[in-house]
Amino acid sequence: MSGPDTKKFTIATIPGDGIGPEVISEARRIAEAAASRDGAHLDWTIYPFGASHYLSKGEILPDSALEEIKGHSAMLLGAVGDPSVKPGILERGLLLAFRFAFDQYVNLRPAMSLPNVPTPVPLNGEKLDSVVIRENTEDLYMGLGETTESGSLSMDLELSRGGYDLRGRLNVELSPGMPFAAQLALNTRHGVRRITRYACRTAQKRGERHITIVSKSNAVPALYGYFEDAAKATVAEEFPGMECSVVNVDALCYHLVRKPSAYGVLLCPNLFGDIVSDLQAGLAGGMGAAAGGNIGDGLSMFEPVHGSAPDIAGTGRANPIAAILSCALLLRHIGLDKSAGRVEGAVNTYLKSAPAAKMPFEFGGEATCPEVGAAVIKNI
Ligand code: NAD
Ligand code: IPM
Ligand code: MN
Repeated sequence: MSGPDTKKFTIATIPGDGIGPEVISEARRIAEAAASRDGAHLDWTIYPFGASHYLSKGEILPDSALEEIKGHSAMLLGAVGDPSVKPGILERGLLLAFRFAFDQYVNLRPAMSLPNVPTPVPLNGEKLDSVVIRENTEDLYMGLGETTESGSLSMDLELSRGGYDLRGRLNVELSPGMPFAAQLALNTRHGVRRITRYACRTAQKRGERHITIVSKSNAVPALYGYFEDAAKATVAEEFPGMECSVVNVDALCYHLVRKPSAYGVLLCPNLFGDIVSDLQAGLAGGMGAAAGGNIGDGLSMFEPVHGSAPDIAGTGRANPIAAILSCALLLRHIGLDKSAGRVEGAVNTYLKSAPAAKMPFEFGGEATCPEVGAAVIKNI
């Protein structure tokens, strides 16, 4: 119900491909119910972008849509990517395009153990309560890459990021000439400093005085040594009392599997953050429970960590909890803290009270995506 005192928010929504529309439909209903209990109204603009729109219309993301989306309070995305479209076209053309266009430099990916959700590694009474703070605009994700059949490559470089424009030219020649691929990665001081600040502020909010920098400076010293040093310097200069330690990403994976509860805030360059957040999702109990947000100083976008899961799309087996909890992050971001708490509380109550068979398939139960949504919404 809306009245004269109703706070209104507009949410640009891209359900996308595969299980995207299935999980987004449940998440929307639940977010809407929570917000309306707190006197707020969510107005959804649904965009059709994704595989079928691309295949039928030849269009990925028109500039006009990008401009229109900019005016919303926040974005919600299911997942994009489909086996019928070459990998990268939709992922780069939509998901990464939004991250870059709106300079969403933080990828926030909490991982925590949830009530009654089986974990593949025993937690021995401890809780997994960690958060990946992933740099979201740089590293190997810049999009500066090419392949060549001839053995020589000459690439014009031109792009814009939040804090800078990049221009240049890369020439590489192999002799004897042979086909190869090259991809250019950057980590700038500007980029590392701002994500490190966000990681430190996240630790402060959690009541912690420590962050872990995820590196690989032993093998890739320029790119990741720079990330590590710039992050350390930011902590030392700007966050008195905050401590940081460094772990190489390979060792981190080993430690995480042995003791999932060992880490709090994990500050990651873009690529490692992508990989580590899937590992964390697995350790916490499943991809279908891992929520995320792409946050910047302008428009922010919320989406589950998982993809379009074509292997289970249309079967009802998709777990909507990740999308639902992503909506909780969205609600908190737009200032509806109470509604966010309601959504998280409703998920917790459902997980605590559901009989085994009423749990999502991913957690060993038999509840379909809409059945999980219906069970959660009862607790709002
Ligand atoms: P994926 O995350 O879609 O799936 C990995 C595994 O996890 C699959 O076995 C899947 O069934 C399972 N899974 C994922 N989400 C689940 C859920 N909610 N409930 C139950 N099980 C779930 O990763 P993938 O297979 O590498 O990628 C599939 C497609 O999605 C590709 O096109 C990829 O590029 C794309 N993708 C998109 C995004 C995004 O848009 N945010 C993220 C990751 C991958
Ligand atoms: C993610 C996804 C994306 C990424 C892909 C689909 C481009 O895996 O959001 O984790 O690599 O960032
Ligand atoms: Mn990923």
